[in-house]
Amino acid sequence: MNIDEVYRRYQELQAWVGWTGEDARSVAATSGLLAPHLSTLVDDFYEEIQRHPNALKVITGGQTQIERLKGTLIVWLRELLGGCYDPNYVSRRWQVGWRHVEIGLEQVYTNVALSRLRLGLMRCLHEHWPSDSDELQTTVRSLNKLLDLDLAIIEDAYQEEYALRLQRSERMATIGQVAGGVAHELRNPLNVVKTSVYYLLNARMPTAEKQVEHLHRIEKHVVLADGVITALSNFAKLPVPNRTPFSLEACVREALDANPVPDTIELLFDFPPSLPPALGDGEQIRIVFANLLRNAREAMPQGGRLTVAARETNGLLETTVVDTGVGIPAEQLHRIMEPLYSTKARGLGLGLSIARAILEKNGGSLRAASEWEKGSTFTVLLQTESPTPVSSPVRSISP
Ligand code: HEM
Repeated sequence: MNIDEVYRRYQELQAWVGWTGEDARSVAATSGLLAPHLSTLVDDFYEEIQRHPNALKVITGGQTQIERLKGTLIVWLRELLGGCYDPNYVSRRWQVGWRHVEIGLEQVYTNVALSRLRLGLMRCLHEHWPSDSDELQTTVRSLNKLLDLDLAIIEDAYQEEYALRLQRSERMATIGQVAGGVAHELRNPLNVVKTSVYYLLNARMPTAEKQVEHLHRIEKHVVLADGVITALSNFAKLPVPNRTPFSLEACVREALDANPVPDTIELLFDFPPSLPPALGDGEQIRIVFANLLRNAREAMPQGGRLTVAARETNGLLETTVVDTGVGIPAEQLHRIMEPLYSTKARGLGLGLSIARAILEKNGGSLRAASEWEKGSTFTVLLQTESPTPVSSPVRSISP
C-alpha cells in the first residue's frame, strides 16, 4: 500500500471507532501529565521483553540496541500523544509493522506489549484524576481508541508485508525447483545429442549404419527434450475441457498403446462390456492414464503385474490402476500430487499433478493408496454420460 492508501485506510478505521477532533484534543491535553512517566513505562516495556526469549531473540544488538529502542519508543509515545495524526504519522506507524516483519518479530508480542503499555498509561491517568471524574472517562476512551488505531495499522502493515515476503520466498523456491528440474531433465538428452554430433563431425570414415544410428539417437533425445518442454507448457495452460461422452476402455487402450509395458510385466485388463460411456474430454483423460501407466511401469523395473480395471459405482466410473511395484513411502504419499514433487530419480514431478488438475477440470478426481514394497493403487473417478451436475465435481482426495 502506498502512503495515500495507508492514510485512507487509517481514516476509514478512525470513522469506525468514532474518532473525532475532540478525542485528539483530549489526548493532547494529557501529554504534559504523562510526559514524566514515559521513561518508566518504556523501561518496564523492555524489562518484560527480556523475560520472553522468543521476543528477545530479535534484539541482536544487546543493551546498546535496547537503549536505542527505548529512545525510539519514547518518540513513538510522544507522537501518539502529540495530537497530529496526519499521513506522515500514519506512515511511521505502518513502518513499525513492516520493520517488525523484517526483524522476524511475531505480531503477538507487539499485541501484548501494547496491552502492557496501555495498562501503564491508564494507571498514570487514574493516579492523576479521581475515578469518577468526567475528564478521566473521556481521556481513557480517547486514548483507547488511539491505541487501537495504532495497533490496527501496525498489524495491517505486518500482515501485508508478511504475505508479500512469503509469496516472494515461495516464488523463489518454485523457480529454483522448476529450474533444477528442467536442467536435470534436459541435461541428459542434450549430452547424448552432443556426443552423437561430436561423433558425426569427427569420426574418420564412419559407416553409413553408424551415421544413421547416431542420427536416430539425436532424433530420439530431441523428442525427449521436447517432451519435457511440452509437459511444462501443458501444465502452465491446461485448456478448457471439451466434455463429451467417450469410451473409457478405448481411451485407456490408446494410452496403453502409446506407453506399452515390457514382457516382464503381466497385464490384466478388466473392462465390463456393460460399462456406460464416460463424460469428459477424452483427449485430456488419455493424458491422465498415460501418466498413471508410465508411473506403474517405472515402479516395476524388475517386472510385476499391472491391473487396470473399471466398474460403475454410485453413478460414477471408477478405474483403478494397480501395480505390484516398489510402492510409495507413507511420508511421501500425501505430497505426490504436488507440482514438481517427484519420488523418482528422473522426472519433473508434474505427471500426477497434471493428472489431478485434468480430472478436476473434467469433474472427476484422483486418489492414491500405496504400500511400501507391495505396490500402489491409483483410482480415477469420472462422471458417466448421465452425470452428477458439473457444478458439484467429485473432489480429489489426496491421501
Ligand atoms: C507496542 C508495541 C511496539 C511498538 C509501538 C514498537 C515500535 C517500534 C518502532 C517505532 C520501531 C522503529 C521502526 C522503524 O524502523 O522506523 C520498532 C522497531 C523495532 N522493534 Fe518494536 N515496537 C513494539 C513492540 C516491539 C516488541 C515487543 C519487540 C520485541 C523485541 C520489538 C522490537 C523491535 C526491534 C528489534 C526493532 C528494530 C529496531 C532497530 O532498527 O534496531 N518491538 N519498533
